[in-house]
Amino acid sequence: KVLAAITATGGYVPDTVLDNAALEKMVDTSNEWILTRTGIRERRIASDPNMATSDMASLAIKDLLAQKNINPEEVECIILATSTPDFLLAPAAAIAASKAGLNNAFALDLNAACSGFLYALSTGAMFIESGRYKKVIVAGTDKMSSIVNYSDRNTCVLFGDGAGAVLLEPAKEGYGLQDNIFKTDGSGSEILAVQGGGSKNPATAETVAQNLHYVQQDGRTVFKNAIKGMSSACADILAQNNLTADDIDWVIPHQANMRIIDAVGDQLGIPKEKIKVNIDRYGNTTAATLPLVLWDYKDDFKPGDKILLTAFGAGFTWGASYLIW
Ligand code: ACO
Repeated sequence: KVLAAITATGGYVPDTVLDNAALEKMVDTSNEWILTRTGIRERRIASDPNMATSDMASLAIKDLLAQKNINPEEVECIILATSTPDFLLAPAAAIAASKAGLNNAFALDLNAACSGFLYALSTGAMFIESGRYKKVIVAGTDKMSSIVNYSDRNTCVLFGDGAGAVLLEPAKEGYGLQDNIFKTDGSGSEILAVQGGGSKNPATAETVAQNLHYVQQDGRTVFKNAIKGMSSACADILAQNNLTADDIDWVIPHQANMRIIDAVGDQLGIPKEKIKVNIDRYGNTTAATLPLVLWDYKDDFKPGDKILLTAFGAGFTWGASYLIW
């Protein structure tokens, strides 16, 4: 059976840095609180009004194509994981594909919140595994600053903007994406949500006055479920592939909170040196966290390395994937 390998990574983060000192001036918080409770020092913000999700995604895709010297017209499919599309209708993937010159690719958005990239990666891999497609791009991009209320200290310290992308191609034997575990529980959807602007609460002056167009959450409940969900998905995928924690070279976790990442590592018995982290610099970029970590640390990964990816997000959605680099 043909498997899919990640053969290139690309990334983009906006230049504007929003550090904890700047947030201290916006809400009642402190650098000390943010750093010790979340591990975040700064995040990037797409402050240019012309920089929508599709623009950031297309820059990550162009970065990826340039590294591999690939003609954009060779790409057959692009899946863009995002919760912050440019528009509710007209997929951001189509706009990003057009901006990146992917003129022969079919394009679709996939929304599974913070788990979006993980879900999209295996969806893209299945197109490769079918034998019918040879070049698929999977991107994760979120402009969280477009849905964050910068007067709500419970959320505004957590999120940042960013874009990442990977190229999937048929893997050499013994390499590639080996296995996935995905879980969803929609009964907790209002624990972490943007409740306005969709079909349930269409945007009106009233929904805006109620701040329903902003992301809102019960952070403590999300925190507990994130640790439980990612730890159990990772433990299950290890068991079903006859692996122990010692067999794993790298863990790439969703970057939501350093304390969540540490707790998942502790529960699995995986030492900190094997867990890749860039939350200190970018905060939680939702669907972009995993591809931004892959992009940031690509030079550390060697052929044959065994990598676990795991994510948890709104929905709730969560899961884990196991790949051989
Ligand atoms: N600065 C200062 N104080 C704050 C801030 C802030 N930015 N935010 C909250 N507090 C206060 C609270 O008001 C509370 O005060 P109180 O005790 O007087 O009521 C106190 O700090 C403790 O609040 P908790 O919510 O218990 O703090 P906790 O340690 O749980 O940390 C946090 C909060 C960081 C939100 C944490 O729960 C978290 O990271 N949850 C996960 C949320 C998340 O990542 N969601 C994003 C998407 S899903 C995902 O990516 C996993």
